Amino acid sequence: MSFPEHRPRRLRRTEILRSLVREIDLTPRHLVAPLFVKQGIDEPLPIASMPGHSQHTLESLRKEAREIVEKGVLALVVFGIPARKDPEGSESWKDEGIAQQAVRALREEVGDAAVLIADLCLCEYTDHGHCGVFTGGSDAPDNDVTVQIYRGIAVSQAAAGADLVAPSGMMDGQVGAIRGALDEAGFADTGILSYAAKFASAFYGPFREAAEGAPRFGDRRSHQMDPANAEEALREIRQDIAEGADIVMVKPALPYLDVIGRAKAETGFPMAAYNVSGEFAMVKAAAERGWIDGRAATLEVLTAIRRAGADLILTYHAKEAADWLA
Ligand code: PBG
Repeated sequence: MSFPEHRPRRLRRTEILRSLVREIDLTPRHLVAPLFVKQGIDEPLPIASMPGHSQHTLESLRKEAREIVEKGVLALVVFGIPARKDPEGSESWKDEGIAQQAVRALREEVGDAAVLIADLCLCEYTDHGHCGVFTGGSDAPDNDVTVQIYRGIAVSQAAAGADLVAPSGMMDGQVGAIRGALDEAGFADTGILSYAAKFASAFYGPFREAAEGAPRFGDRRSHQMDPANAEEALREIRQDIAEGADIVMVKPALPYLDVIGRAKAETGFPMAAYNVSGEFAMVKAAAERGWIDGRAATLEVLTAIRRAGADLILTYHAKEAADWLA
């Protein structure tokens, strides 16, 4: 009896052999770091469900951003939490809004060393915590009125110096509308990272504490996607590309690796994946209890998201992972 001709273990024998035939790489440049900034606080406020993360002051935001960029991470995505909320989320499009101030502060701090991405949504800004506004007694956000508001937010974020705006509200036509608004306002070079296929997920829990954007009533299933639907996700992604998205994103990442893989294979477009707060919290909680090796699990998660087809990974692990990958 002869041994098989193929002995895959030959190439697994040493780390140098394994490195030689590794199919994808994971480096700090593949990571995008989300940051939270809150108006009207004097000290950063740690977020209990997201170890290592805080709601920042403008001052602590700068420091955190500098440290992250020094580790080789090339992009930051900023979420603003205003001191005052109202039904329209009117703090979201102000030139002196917290997100706009944060983008200017970050630009001053890191210059051209990092791509600055502004999350574009209303849920942090509305008193009801929804991603859009309500009209006519409906209990679902009004799509077209909300999209008009998004246009104003996009222009104010671009004026503040964002390289990319990232609409996350899952309103229909939001990418095309924002593209038009940016172009009309003279911001043809400001790009759009579209949360193209964003699922109505149970994994956003810690984020809603961090960004203070939990809906006060109802849920987001009238606009975020049904977790069962991959074909529809592909349609959403193709539509956002047609509307002018520069980078398309799937969110969350781990439960939707098939969607990331298909989207990359079928569109060849720059693809991002959001390794969301609940995915982060699971790893952290299990590691804290000694049930998994946190570092190994994190690097495996990020490698898997890359392998599925993501060019970029928005992840709360960015800072620590950049250290480990150095
Ligand atoms: C909404 C938004 C959410 C996240 C990013 N943008 C939450 C939601 O839809 O409720 C979640 C990110 C995360 O969980 O890390 N603007």
